Amino acid sequence: MPLDDIDHVAVLGAGNMGHGITEVIAIAGYDVTMRDIETELVEDGYEDIKWSLEKLAEKERIDESPETVLDRISTMTDLEAAVAEADLVIEAAPEELDIKHDIFTDLETYTDEDTILASNTSSLPITDIAAATDRPERVVGMHFFNPPVKMDLVEVIYGDETSDATAETAYEFVESIDKTPIYVNKDVRGFVVNSVLGPFGDEAGWMASEGVADIREIDATMVHERGYPMGPFELADLTGIDIGYHVRTEAGKDVPPIVESKVEAEALGRKTGKGYYEYEDGDGVDYG
Ligand code: 3HC
Repeated sequence: MPLDDIDHVAVLGAGNMGHGITEVIAIAGYDVTMRDIETELVEDGYEDIKWSLEKLAEKERIDESPETVLDRISTMTDLEAAVAEADLVIEAAPEELDIKHDIFTDLETYTDEDTILASNTSSLPITDIAAATDRPERVVGMHFFNPPVKMDLVEVIYGDETSDATAETAYEFVESIDKTPIYVNKDVRGFVVNSVLGPFGDEAGWMASEGVADIREIDATMVHERGYPMGPFELADLTGIDIGYHVRTEAGKDVPPIVESKVEAEALGRKTGKGYYEYEDGDGVDYG
């Protein structure tokens, strides 16, 4: 399907990534349906979009009013209805292959055969997700970063059977929402960014677990010495400590004890108000 034929997008998932992706696409002028499995999840995601749009409007970072952007967003829990009109579907469900397989199996039934089926997975192979459909050539990775409204990059990933036409439209779509796409040609675990970020976070986790340096000191090192916007622990708090934990355990890797202890204590980062740091009113870490 060429980019000009994409009018309506469906985003499956209203969590951090799903609602952020929905917001970005609506700001760019597309009609978007955001779907999750429970009304409460959808309502929470919608409230988060409202909060974010108001912040962006206060700072004159959007050209339209929050209400005008929100008018382009509809929300629902019914999967069939959510994707019925969609020219592009972006799945942002939990990182479990079984869940994604169920969704993509349903998508094969509920969507037109030309519809592009994208996954925002951060760690599962696109080829494995596409195996749930009989049209793997229309399945592509479209990996956004957290928070989508602020992060510029989107990885466009080829599964083994993704067609050039599908990948090219996905790439052009990313440009059309004012983001910067890069192609990832090989469907390797973690793609480009998380392949590099994974060891970075792990190394920091092992060092803190072994008492080499404190969390804040390790983070400050990367901020002051490398010029990163935040250190590895603050970043894990932003993305969710449980997300990185599941990616590592799914890959059969050992997890640093400090990560394990946070997951056991359900101190998962900003979303629980507490992770490696404690957060009040969404404040970041002061690196002095
Ligand atoms: N919408 C609107 N406003 C937002 C917002 C959002 N989603 N999130 C934060 N803001 C607001 C803040 O509330 C703050 O408002 P205030 O000035 O009124 O207090 C304002 O934006 C400025 O925020 P900050 O001062 O904290 O910082 P910056 O705007 O300079 O940058 C950042 C924030 C973009 C998150 C930056 O710290 C950054 O780039 N961090 C690294 C993020 C990163 O690497 N993400 C990728 C993670 S890996 C990933 O996602 C992969 C996946 O597979 C897990």
